[in-house]
Amino acid sequence: MTDPSPALDGRVAIVTGAGRGMGRAIATLLASEGAAVAVVDVDESAAASVAETIGAAGGRAIACVADVSRADAVARAVDRTTRELGTVDILVNNAGVLRPGPLERITEAEWDLVVDVTLKGAFLFIQAVAPIMRAQRRGRIVNIASMAGRATSTLGGAHYTAAKAGMLGLSRHAARELAAAGINVNAVSPGIIDTDMVRSNTSPDRLDQVIRTIPFKRLGLPQEVAQLVLFLVSDASAYITGAAVDIHGGEMIIQ
Ligand SMILES: NC(=O)c1ccc[n+]([C@@H]2O[C@H](COP(=O)([O-])OP(=O)(O)OC[C@H]3O[C@@H](n4cnc5c(N)ncnc54)[C@H](O)[C@@H]3O)[C@@H](O)[C@H]2O)c1
Repeated sequence: MTDPSPALDGRVAIVTGAGRGMGRAIATLLASEGAAVAVVDVDESAAASVAETIGAAGGRAIACVADVSRADAVARAVDRTTRELGTVDILVNNAGVLRPGPLERITEAEWDLVVDVTLKGAFLFIQAVAPIMRAQRRGRIVNIASMAGRATSTLGGAHYTAAKAGMLGLSRHAARELAAAGINVNAVSPGIIDTDMVRSNTSPDRLDQVIRTIPFKRLGLPQEVAQLVLFLVSDASAYITGAAVDIHGGEMIIQ
């Protein structure tokens, strides 16, 4: 018996914040399922390294350096993707920044950074790819939100919680507006996932404390989130739109 063809054969995906962490895992998994991937990140060498790894494994990827909070940079990234990879079938809005700190000490600049990268970046990318997806009457958009957007952030500040709650609203609204064009928009809300974002904002003691509150007694893995994203961009989830799927090892059910 021959292997079935990969789930995303012939598709083109943009994954933002794909230079490391969850974005890297998502980009790599989508590429291994046959998608050509635009690896978008503000960190040039990280994006290049992920694109090279995908290429070395026999996949197709381009590294796109872009700050997702800048409309001009987003337009250039989408334009380059369509010129070099042909179109955009899949968009995964994953780029985000977390900053800790009490509400009364959040500066205006820090608020703008967190909200612009995490929320405005997703809006700008959706706006830029929507006409392409409308024209082909097909598209999949996944926004990486967070349990922070459903409750409150364990590690980040009020700006992070607000931006992630905004991601959930943006996803629902985009799903409603784009459904008639055959475009599915869904959100994924991870709990605490083992990435640099978490490790660099948390002392080992605090992390142990946090892990003890998770029913599964461990952090999530970037690859586990990537598998959920793969499902949401594959044909298997054709009738799902406007949904937000939690992935948190049981964290939310005990709070
Ligand atoms: N790690 C967690 O526990 C967790 C939980 C819930 C949600 N999330 C969300 O998942 C996403 C990925 O998180 P992660 O833990 O992999 O983070 P990470 O910090 O490890 O990686 C984020 C990537 O985004 C890139 N990036 C940052 N600012 C950017 C910008 N302006 N333009 C383009 N790229 C930019 C970084 O260079 C980096 O490669 C984020 O949106 C985060 O908020 C993370």
